[in-house]
Amino acid sequence: MVAVENEAQITERVLKSLEQTPNPRLKTVMTSLIKHLHAFVQEVQLSEAEWLQAIQFLTAVGQKCDDRRQEFILLSDTLGVSMLVDAINHRAEHGATESTVLGPFYREGARELAPGESISLDGKGEPAIVSGRVLSTDGRPIAGAVLDVWEGNDDGLYEQQDPNQPDMNLRGRYRTDAEGRFTVVGIKPVSYPVPVDGPVGQMLLALGRHPYRPAHIHFIVSAEGYRPLTTHLFASGDPFLDSDAVFGKKDSLVVDFERHDSADEAAQRGVRAPFYTVDYDFVLLPA
Ligand SMILES: [Fe+2]
Repeated sequence: MVAVENEAQITERVLKSLEQTPNPRLKTVMTSLIKHLHAFVQEVQLSEAEWLQAIQFLTAVGQKCDDRRQEFILLSDTLGVSMLVDAINHRAEHGATESTVLGPFYREGARELAPGESISLDGKGEPAIVSGRVLSTDGRPIAGAVLDVWEGNDDGLYEQQDPNQPDMNLRGRYRTDAEGRFTVVGIKPVSYPVPVDGPVGQMLLALGRHPYRPAHIHFIVSAEGYRPLTTHLFASGDPFLDSDAVFGKKDSLVVDFERHDSADEAAQRGVRAPFYTVDYDFVLLPA
C-alpha cells in the first residue's frame, strides 16, 4: 500500500505545482492533461522500455516535420484527435455545410484563378468541374466568397510530396460572382495512402491499419462576416469511404462525380473528354 500511496503523491505534487499558473485556461488544460496522463500511465502500468519507446516515437515525429511535411498533424489525424476537435468546435450549425480535417498538405499562397480556369499546372488526370454557389444559412448567395482549393494528383500525391509536379500544382483560389456562383476546375480525385515512410506509418503498420483515405478535394471557403469552413468533397463509390485512415468522412460531404464522354461537350466547357461534373452548394454560418 505504501508504494501505491507514493504513486498517488507524485500526481498530487505535480497538480499542486500548477496551482499558481497565472493563465486560468492554461491551468485548466494542464491540470486535466496531468490527471489523464498519469491515469493512463497507471492504467497500462507503463514499463521503462515502453516509456523510452514513446519518447523516441515522439522525437521521430518531430524530426520528420519540415516546411513540406507535418507528421504531428498526421499523428493527430490518424488518432482521430483532429476530427474530435473539429466536432467539438462545429456543433449544430443550423444547416451550414459540415467541416472536416484540414490535413497536413495545405499550403498558403495559392494563385487566384478565374471561374473555369484549372488548378492543374501539368494537365494530367481527368478533368473535374465543381460548380455551385456559396450561400448563407438563410439561403442568400454570398458574393466575393473565396474558395481555397487543393488536391492530390492522379497518382494520389500532393505536389509537395512529389518532385515531378510543378510547385503549387493542383492548388488555387476562386472568388464567387454577384450571385454567389463559382466554377472550380481540378481533376477527378483518387484515394491515396497517407505518408507511411515515417513514424506514423510505422504506427499504422504495428496496429494492422491500412493508410488509405477515400478520394476527395479540399476546400477552405471564407467570406467576410461568416465563419470560415474547412471541408472536403468526397467521391461517392470510393472503397475507403467507410474506413478513412483519418476518420474525416461525413455522409453530407459525399458527392457524385458525373462522367461525361462527349468531346463536343468537353470543348464547350474548356476541358477534354472524359470529364466529370459535380454540383455542390457550400453553406456558411454568419460569424
Ligand atoms: Fe487530402
